Amino acid sequence: MTHPVFIRIGVLLFATAFIVSCMHTTHIDQPFMTVPHPGKYQLVYHAPSKEFPLHTMATVDGREFLAVDDVVLPSVQSLYLLTHWKIFDGETVLDIGTGSGVQAVFAADKASLVVATDINPAAVKIARLNAQRNGADNIIDVRQGDLFSPITKDEKFDVILFNIDYPYNEATQGLWKLHERFFAEVNNYLKRGGRIYYQSGLIDNAARINSMANKNSMSILSMRMDVVLEADREPIVYLIKRNLDVEVKAGVWGR
Ligand SMILES: C[S@@+](CC[C@H](N)C(=O)[O-])C[C@H]1O[C@@H](n2cnc3c(N)ncnc32)[C@H](O)[C@@H]1O
Repeated sequence: MTHPVFIRIGVLLFATAFIVSCMHTTHIDQPFMTVPHPGKYQLVYHAPSKEFPLHTMATVDGREFLAVDDVVLPSVQSLYLLTHWKIFDGETVLDIGTGSGVQAVFAADKASLVVATDINPAAVKIARLNAQRNGADNIIDVRQGDLFSPITKDEKFDVILFNIDYPYNEATQGLWKLHERFFAEVNNYLKRGGRIYYQSGLIDNAARINSMANKNSMSILSMRMDVVLEADREPIVYLIKRNLDVEVKAGVWGR
Protein backbone atom coordinates (compact mmCIF):
# COMPACT_ATOMS: atom_id res chain seq x y z
CA MET A 1 0.00 0.00 0.00
CA THR A 2 1.28 3.53 -0.85
CA HIS A 3 2.27 5.59 2.17
CA PRO A 4 0.03 8.74 2.67
CA VAL A 5 3.16 10.97 2.71
CA PHE A 6 4.04 9.80 -0.83
CA ILE A 7 0.48 10.49 -1.94
CA ARG A 8 0.71 14.04 -0.54
CA ILE A 9 4.08 14.60 -2.22
CA GLY A 10 2.63 13.25 -5.49
CA VAL A 11 -0.38 15.61 -5.28
CA LEU A 12 1.94 18.53 -4.49
CA LEU A 13 4.23 17.74 -7.43
CA PHE A 14 1.24 17.35 -9.76
CA ALA A 15 -0.25 20.70 -8.61
CA THR A 16 3.12 22.47 -9.05
CA ALA A 17 3.58 20.98 -12.53
CA PHE A 18 0.04 22.05 -13.46
CA ILE A 19 0.57 25.66 -12.28
CA VAL A 20 3.92 25.89 -14.06
CA SER A 21 2.44 24.48 -17.27
CA CYS A 22 -0.40 27.06 -17.10
CA MET A 23 2.16 29.85 -16.70
CA HIS A 24 4.01 28.54 -19.71
CA THR A 25 0.97 28.48 -21.93
CA THR A 26 0.55 32.27 -21.74
CA HIS A 27 1.05 34.18 -24.98
CA ILE A 28 4.38 35.73 -23.99
CA ASP A 29 6.08 32.34 -24.03
CA GLN A 30 4.61 31.42 -27.38
CA PRO A 31 5.60 33.89 -30.07
CA PHE A 32 4.72 32.40 -33.42
CA MET A 33 5.94 35.03 -35.81
CA THR A 34 8.59 37.71 -35.51
CA VAL A 35 8.00 40.16 -38.33
CA PRO A 36 11.08 41.43 -40.18
CA HIS A 37 10.87 45.15 -41.00
CA PRO A 38 13.19 48.15 -41.24
CA GLY A 39 11.99 49.91 -38.08
CA LYS A 40 13.79 49.88 -34.75
CA TYR A 41 11.12 48.07 -32.69
CA GLN A 42 10.58 44.33 -32.50
CA LEU A 43 7.14 43.18 -33.71
CA VAL A 44 5.94 39.70 -32.75
CA TYR A 45 2.53 38.16 -33.46
CA HIS A 46 1.38 35.72 -30.79
CA ALA A 47 -1.18 32.98 -30.40
CA PRO A 48 -4.29 34.07 -28.45
CA SER A 49 -3.68 33.97 -24.72
CA LYS A 50 -5.67 32.11 -22.08
CA GLU A 51 -6.73 35.43 -20.59
CA PHE A 52 -8.00 36.78 -23.95
CA PRO A 53 -8.76 33.69 -26.08
CA LEU A 54 -10.96 35.66 -28.50
CA HIS A 55 -8.39 38.39 -29.17
CA THR A 56 -5.42 38.41 -31.51
CA MET A 57 -2.23 39.70 -29.97
CA ALA A 58 1.07 41.31 -30.91
CA THR A 59 3.94 42.57 -28.83
CA VAL A 60 5.99 45.62 -29.77
CA ASP A 61 9.25 45.56 -27.85
CA GLY A 62 7.46 43.41 -25.29
CA ARG A 63 4.41 45.68 -24.86
CA GLU A 64 1.20 43.76 -25.49
CA PHE A 65 -1.45 44.92 -27.97
CA LEU A 66 -4.72 43.06 -28.27
CA ALA A 67 -7.12 43.29 -31.19
CA VAL A 68 -10.32 41.69 -32.44
CA ASP A 69 -11.47 40.75 -35.94
CA ASP A 70 -12.21 44.18 -37.36
CA VAL A 71 -9.39 45.98 -35.53
CA VAL A 72 -5.89 45.70 -36.92
CA LEU A 73 -2.85 44.67 -34.93
CA PRO A 74 0.28 46.84 -35.29
CA SER A 75 1.72 46.30 -38.79
CA VAL A 76 5.04 46.92 -40.53
CA GLN A 77 3.70 50.36 -41.50
CA SER A 78 2.71 51.08 -37.89
CA LEU A 79 6.19 50.17 -36.70
CA TYR A 80 7.82 52.29 -39.37
CA LEU A 81 5.82 55.34 -38.28
CA LEU A 82 6.60 54.53 -34.64
CA THR A 83 10.30 54.40 -35.47
CA HIS A 84 10.40 57.78 -37.16
CA TRP A 85 8.33 60.18 -35.09
CA LYS A 86 9.92 62.05 -32.26
CA ILE A 87 7.93 63.47 -29.38
CA PHE A 88 9.49 65.76 -26.83
CA ASP A 89 8.68 65.79 -23.12
CA GLY A 90 5.33 67.38 -22.34
CA GLU A 91 4.12 67.73 -25.94
CA THR A 92 0.49 67.12 -26.84
CA VAL A 93 -0.30 64.54 -29.50
CA LEU A 94 -3.29 63.69 -31.69
CA ASP A 95 -3.30 60.16 -33.16
CA ILE A 96 -5.91 59.90 -35.91
CA GLY A 97 -7.12 56.36 -36.75
CA THR A 98 -5.46 54.84 -33.70
CA GLY A 99 -6.52 51.19 -34.32
CA SER A 100 -4.90 49.13 -31.54
CA GLY A 101 -3.54 52.35 -30.03
CA VAL A 102 0.10 51.44 -30.65
CA GLN A 103 1.21 54.98 -31.61
CA ALA A 104 -0.70 56.46 -28.68
CA VAL A 105 0.78 54.06 -26.11
CA PHE A 106 4.37 54.78 -27.16
CA ALA A 107 3.68 58.52 -27.51
CA ALA A 108 2.42 58.54 -23.92
CA ASP A 109 6.00 57.83 -22.74
CA LYS A 110 6.80 61.48 -23.45
CA ALA A 111 3.56 63.34 -24.11
CA SER A 112 1.54 65.11 -21.46
CA LEU A 113 -1.66 64.25 -23.36
CA VAL A 114 -2.48 61.96 -26.27
CA VAL A 115 -5.91 62.19 -27.88
CA ALA A 116 -6.48 59.07 -30.00
CA THR A 117 -9.43 58.82 -32.37
CA ASP A 118 -10.95 56.08 -34.50
CA ILE A 119 -14.11 55.83 -36.55
CA ASN A 120 -14.57 52.19 -35.55
CA PRO A 121 -16.19 51.77 -32.10
CA ALA A 122 -14.48 48.37 -31.74
CA ALA A 123 -11.08 50.03 -32.24
CA VAL A 124 -11.95 52.66 -29.63
CA LYS A 125 -12.74 49.90 -27.13
CA ILE A 126 -9.53 48.02 -27.98
CA ALA A 127 -7.35 51.16 -27.85
CA ARG A 128 -8.76 51.94 -24.38
CA LEU A 129 -8.03 48.39 -23.23
CA ASN A 130 -4.47 48.52 -24.62
CA ALA A 131 -3.86 51.95 -23.08
CA GLN A 132 -5.00 50.63 -19.72
CA ARG A 133 -3.01 47.36 -19.95
CA ASN A 134 0.11 49.37 -20.82
CA GLY A 135 -0.42 51.76 -17.90
CA ALA A 136 -1.01 54.78 -20.16
CA ASP A 137 -4.73 55.41 -19.66
CA ASN A 138 -4.02 58.47 -17.51
CA ILE A 139 -2.40 60.15 -20.55
CA ILE A 140 -4.47 58.73 -23.44
CA ASP A 141 -7.98 59.98 -24.16
CA VAL A 142 -9.60 57.71 -26.80
CA ARG A 143 -12.54 59.17 -28.74
CA GLN A 144 -14.77 57.75 -31.44
CA GLY A 145 -15.50 59.54 -34.72
CA ASP A 146 -14.54 60.41 -38.27
CA LEU A 147 -11.15 62.16 -38.62
CA PHE A 148 -11.29 65.41 -36.58
CA SER A 149 -14.98 65.25 -35.65
CA PRO A 150 -14.27 64.20 -32.02
CA ILE A 151 -11.92 67.21 -31.57
CA THR A 152 -13.22 70.63 -30.57
CA LYS A 153 -12.14 73.71 -32.52
CA ASP A 154 -10.07 75.06 -29.63
CA GLU A 155 -8.01 71.85 -29.15
CA LYS A 156 -4.58 72.17 -30.78
CA PHE A 157 -1.62 69.78 -30.73
CA ASP A 158 2.17 69.88 -31.06
CA VAL A 159 2.19 66.63 -33.04
CA ILE A 160 -0.39 64.91 -35.24
CA LEU A 161 0.17 61.25 -36.19
CA PHE A 162 -1.63 59.78 -39.18
CA ASN A 163 -1.39 56.18 -40.34
CA ILE A 164 -4.64 55.27 -42.02
CA ASP A 165 -5.39 53.04 -45.00
CA TYR A 166 -4.15 54.63 -48.22
CA PRO A 167 -4.66 53.96 -51.94
CA TYR A 168 -2.38 51.27 -53.34
CA ASN A 169 -4.29 49.86 -56.35
CA GLU A 170 -7.25 50.61 -58.63
CA ALA A 171 -9.78 49.32 -56.12
CA THR A 172 -8.55 51.58 -53.29
CA GLN A 173 -8.41 54.92 -55.18
CA GLY A 174 -11.53 56.05 -53.27
CA LEU A 175 -9.33 56.44 -50.16
CA TRP A 176 -7.85 59.65 -51.62
CA LYS A 177 -11.02 61.46 -50.53
CA LEU A 178 -10.26 60.61 -46.91
CA HIS A 179 -6.69 61.87 -47.25
CA GLU A 180 -7.86 65.05 -49.00
CA ARG A 181 -10.21 65.73 -46.09
CA PHE A 182 -7.34 65.14 -43.66
CA PHE A 183 -5.14 67.72 -45.41
CA ALA A 184 -7.98 70.22 -45.72
CA GLU A 185 -8.73 70.12 -41.96
CA VAL A 186 -5.45 69.34 -40.21
CA ASN A 187 -4.29 72.97 -40.20
CA ASN A 188 -6.95 73.87 -37.65
CA TYR A 189 -5.62 71.46 -35.04
CA LEU A 190 -1.90 72.25 -35.02
CA LYS A 191 -0.32 74.48 -32.42
CA ARG A 192 2.03 77.18 -33.69
CA GLY A 193 5.14 75.31 -34.91
CA GLY A 194 3.33 71.96 -34.81
CA ARG A 195 4.28 69.03 -37.02
CA ILE A 196 2.61 66.08 -38.72
CA TYR A 197 4.08 62.61 -39.15
CA TYR A 198 2.11 61.01 -41.98
CA GLN A 199 2.63 57.39 -43.06
CA SER A 200 1.58 56.48 -46.57
CA GLY A 201 3.60 53.78 -48.25
CA LEU A 202 4.07 53.54 -51.99
CA ILE A 203 6.43 56.01 -53.63
CA ASP A 204 3.98 56.48 -56.53
CA ASN A 205 1.68 58.31 -54.07
CA ALA A 206 4.30 60.92 -53.16
CA ALA A 207 3.47 63.49 -55.88
CA ARG A 208 -0.20 63.51 -54.97
CA ILE A 209 0.58 63.81 -51.25
CA ASN A 210 2.88 66.74 -52.02
CA SER A 211 0.14 68.47 -54.01
CA MET A 212 -2.47 67.92 -51.27
CA ALA A 213 -0.05 69.45 -48.75
CA ASN A 214 0.80 72.43 -50.99
CA LYS A 215 -2.86 73.08 -51.79
CA ASN A 216 -3.45 73.53 -48.05
CA SER A 217 -0.41 75.76 -47.42
CA MET A 218 1.77 72.99 -46.03
CA SER A 219 5.08 71.49 -47.13
CA ILE A 220 6.74 68.12 -46.90
CA LEU A 221 9.97 68.89 -45.10
CA SER A 222 11.45 65.44 -45.21
CA MET A 223 10.68 61.80 -45.94
CA ARG A 224 11.94 58.55 -44.42
CA MET A 225 11.69 55.52 -46.63
CA ASP A 226 13.03 51.98 -46.80
CA VAL A 227 12.53 49.38 -49.46
CA VAL A 228 11.05 46.27 -47.90
CA LEU A 229 12.14 43.29 -49.89
CA GLU A 230 9.27 41.13 -51.11
CA ALA A 231 6.69 43.62 -49.81
CA ASP A 232 4.44 45.33 -52.34
CA ARG A 233 4.25 48.58 -50.39
CA GLU A 234 7.37 50.19 -48.97
CA PRO A 235 6.58 52.22 -45.84
CA ILE A 236 7.17 55.99 -46.09
CA VAL A 237 6.92 58.55 -43.28
CA TYR A 238 6.52 62.20 -44.24
CA LEU A 239 7.31 65.10 -41.92
CA ILE A 240 4.89 67.90 -42.82
CA LYS A 241 4.47 71.42 -41.47
CA ARG A 242 2.40 74.48 -42.27
CA ASN A 243 4.30 76.90 -44.49
CA LEU A 244 3.90 79.60 -41.86
CA ASP A 245 5.70 77.33 -39.36
CA VAL A 246 8.55 76.14 -41.52
CA GLU A 247 11.54 76.24 -39.32
CA VAL A 248 12.84 72.77 -38.61
CA LYS A 249 13.72 72.06 -35.01
CA ALA A 250 16.87 69.97 -34.73
CA GLY A 251 16.44 66.29 -33.93
CA VAL A 252 12.81 65.81 -34.91
CA TRP A 253 13.46 62.41 -36.47
CA GLY A 254 13.28 59.36 -34.20
CA ARG A 255 16.16 57.63 -35.93
C1 LIG B 1 -4.32 50.84 -40.89
S1 LIG B 1 -5.14 51.10 -39.36
C2 LIG B 1 -3.78 51.89 -38.52
C3 LIG B 1 -3.88 51.91 -37.04
C4 LIG B 1 -2.79 52.70 -36.32
N1 LIG B 1 -2.76 54.10 -36.73
C5 LIG B 1 -1.40 52.11 -36.44
O1 LIG B 1 -0.45 52.84 -36.71
O2 LIG B 1 -1.27 50.88 -36.23
C6 LIG B 1 -6.22 52.45 -39.76
C7 LIG B 1 -7.24 52.80 -38.68
O3 LIG B 1 -7.88 54.00 -39.12
C8 LIG B 1 -9.25 53.92 -38.79
N2 LIG B 1 -10.01 54.82 -39.69
C9 LIG B 1 -10.34 54.60 -40.98
N3 LIG B 1 -11.04 55.64 -41.46
C10 LIG B 1 -11.13 56.55 -40.45
C11 LIG B 1 -11.74 57.84 -40.34
N4 LIG B 1 -12.41 58.39 -41.36
N5 LIG B 1 -11.64 58.50 -39.16
C12 LIG B 1 -10.98 57.93 -38.11
N6 LIG B 1 -10.40 56.70 -38.16
C13 LIG B 1 -10.47 56.02 -39.31
C14 LIG B 1 -9.60 52.46 -38.96
O4 LIG B 1 -10.77 52.13 -38.22
C15 LIG B 1 -8.32 51.78 -38.45
O5 LIG B 1 -8.42 51.49 -37.07
